[in-house]
Amino acid sequence: MTRRFHSKRTPGSMGVFTLMSEAKAAASAEAGDPVVDLSVGTPDMPPPAEALDALRAAIEDPSAYKYCLRHGTMPLLTEAVAWYTRHYGLVDLDPATEALSLVGSQEGLAHLLMAVADPGDGVLMCDVGYACYLPAAHVAGVAPRFLPLRRDGSFLPDLAAAESAAAARSCKALLLNYPNNPTSAVADYGFWAEALAFCEEHDLLLINDNPYVAQVYSGDGLAASPLSLPGAKARTVELFSFAKSYQMGGCRLGFALGNADAIAALEAVKAPIDFNQFLGIQQMGIACLRLPQERLQVYTRMFCSRAAALTAALREHAGWATEMPKACMYVWTRLPDGFSDDTAFCLALVAATKVAVSPGSGFGPGGAGFVRFALVQPEDVLVEAARKVGAFLASPAADELRAADAAASAAAASSSAAAASGAGAAGANAAANGIGPGQQCEEVLAAL
Ligand SMILES: Cc1ncc(COP(=O)(O)O)c(C=O)c1O
Repeated sequence: MTRRFHSKRTPGSMGVFTLMSEAKAAASAEAGDPVVDLSVGTPDMPPPAEALDALRAAIEDPSAYKYCLRHGTMPLLTEAVAWYTRHYGLVDLDPATEALSLVGSQEGLAHLLMAVADPGDGVLMCDVGYACYLPAAHVAGVAPRFLPLRRDGSFLPDLAAAESAAAARSCKALLLNYPNNPTSAVADYGFWAEALAFCEEHDLLLINDNPYVAQVYSGDGLAASPLSLPGAKARTVELFSFAKSYQMGGCRLGFALGNADAIAALEAVKAPIDFNQFLGIQQMGIACLRLPQERLQVYTRMFCSRAAALTAALREHAGWATEMPKACMYVWTRLPDGFSDDTAFCLALVAATKVAVSPGSGFGPGGAGFVRFALVQPEDVLVEAARKVGAFLASPAADELRAADAAASAAAASSSAAAASGAGAAGANAAANGIGPGQQCEEVLAAL
């Protein structure tokens, strides 16, 4: 296809996700069992009954169909601030200046990057993260700069590392997401205090993309919120989504809370682009925010129980030791021994078993060699999927894949040894790190 009508900001293909959706379509077309799709993080339950009632009432109300300007979003934003105040004690957020309604947190984040950074600026992020971050940075013309991760398996960035301070130069924002997709990692208040101090030191906006705020498996289910730290409002924006906690992914609703200057910039960028979400969907959001926290805990417990069932079944039926997550709706795991190419693994798995999972490479360069299972099917389906994975691992198709991966690893090892000896220390460092901090967006997207 020609690129006559593509701007420089238009992202390329969605890489491995395009391949996966083609593979799922091919598997669906075959006779037999339907595809078990564990590759998309969209909950399989309906929205709460109260939200559906609110939508039904709004559908009959002719005034709900008018353009919705900021004034029309105030009931939602007032409820949003009340929700945060109830759960986090943020009594001084002003819904008129420190809150904004969004058509989902994904939309909010993409526009926020455009609103707070200029083309050529950088945004700090982890090298494994939600698949839309790199394309969103690309559209904004902002360069992703990767932070090194701590070496303790926490999937938190090592903000104390010298590379982090170096990468922060010329950046406008630190983009984080805890509880995290895809790793299910959580951050405590100690980490958020460190992140806020880092942002103060480097004059960055702290963005927490927070769709999984109510999906922590322990305690009351609520994650630590950086916005509730003293002084955080001076440089923090948190993005809330109704997609994961209230099963409203297809309805598209979220909100941003925090620093008034960043919120005003986001509002100004959005103004020529959209007129806010349909009022009926905002009414759904209000009904959701009024639900007691125990209602959210029911869903969170269900994801926890699904995670326990899947990790146990993968161990029992596939000999695959995966770690029990602490939050979210994902099991994130390294490929079983003997495999290294996560995309090839996922393509072969769906072709052989009709079980679809996401290749880790789709979540950034740090995801290579991992896969993500989304816990979006009932427990018995997850257990059956684990059985099929076990049968696949014992099959000749898996043996072929192991042999291909071994050959590719040997070839890569010999070529990186040659590159290191030719390029000296800098070459060795780049080979060890894969894609390094500060690398430009185009290169990163091309490598996905
Ligand atoms: C980290 C993260 N941010 C944003 C989104 C999208 O949220 P929304 O549906 O509110 O746009 C997702 C969905 O998977 C996500 O995992």
